[in-house]
Amino acid sequence: MQDEIISLKEQILAAIAAAVTPDELEAVRIRYLARSGALPLLLEKMATVPKEQRPIVGKTANEARTAVASAFDARKAELTAAVEAADFDPTLPGRYEAPGSLHPVLQVRDRAIEIFRRLGFALADGPDIENEVFNFDALNTPPDHPARNEQDTFYLKEDGLAPSPGLDGRSPGGRRLMRTQTSTVQIHAMLNQPPPVRIIAPGRCYRRDEIDATHGMSFFQMEGLVVDQGVTLSDLKGTLEYFFRELLGEDLKFRFRPHFFPFTEPSFEVDCARTGSQVKGKEWLEICGCGMVDPEVFRQVGYDAEKVTGYAFGFGLERIAIMRHGIPDLRFFTDNDVRFLRQFSTRIDS
Ligand code: DAH
Repeated sequence: MQDEIISLKEQILAAIAAAVTPDELEAVRIRYLARSGALPLLLEKMATVPKEQRPIVGKTANEARTAVASAFDARKAELTAAVEAADFDPTLPGRYEAPGSLHPVLQVRDRAIEIFRRLGFALADGPDIENEVFNFDALNTPPDHPARNEQDTFYLKEDGLAPSPGLDGRSPGGRRLMRTQTSTVQIHAMLNQPPPVRIIAPGRCYRRDEIDATHGMSFFQMEGLVVDQGVTLSDLKGTLEYFFRELLGEDLKFRFRPHFFPFTEPSFEVDCARTGSQVKGKEWLEICGCGMVDPEVFRQVGYDAEKVTGYAFGFGLERIAIMRHGIPDLRFFTDNDVRFLRQFSTRIDS
């Protein structure tokens, strides 16, 4: 038995060395090494070897197995490398990989983050799937507010899901929905940390709008929240004016128009205009909602409304990109037409 093993091993090693193509080597494998090849068949006979001889025969068998396996692997690597080397044609033209570039909306996002970073804001985020408590109730939005309507908000099917939790992680959070505003991140941020807070939160929002030149069903917002002792409306005005001038140009004029949002009081809409320039026939364009955080919102997250004040703001990133580049239709942003996107490429080679 032992001699048989040794001579079969020699035979296999010779066959491996003699194979000059991957196919030939594969034939050797099938003939000798595969499940019903010569080596496994021979080793099956081990069972019939008398007990005293078994240790020594077993040792020979193991040596044969390893020797053959490593010779096979080495030869395989050699032959594959040879095939690849033969296939390589240095005269063929290279394959061009078009370099990517950031989408114009994300360029606005990143520039905005840069500016707010310098003002000491930290980045925060929250989930796209929220529930009624985070998206509405905690933001002081009453149950009959029109935004809560199924015509305006995407509610999720809840079949088989555990109830979505509210602010304390236990009480019911109401129906699940796709967040309609990044203001939800205000709530997450305040639940996660005591004051002071100084955050921005860029992210996607969803609304059941009819899609047209100025509406999409999904868009980007950037939210801001500052909470501390003694924060005032002039802090808000100064911060936003500085920010938008950095982003859109020094010559920007501003108008803070009183407005209503459920979670701020007083609330404003910010309009801006550039001397001598009009977009869609209008001089003033509304770009941002903002206001002083309503004490009720502080109560919802367990902040002491007697001790702290704060301001919040939110604006749409597509809208800013439109102003920045004079883009006539929101749908360009999602059509994925490379001819459009390339115009905003920051790379010189595209
Ligand atoms: N969430 C508002 C919206 O989607 C925008 C907004 C307004 C955000 C006022 C704020 C704010 O933080 O204070 O229309």
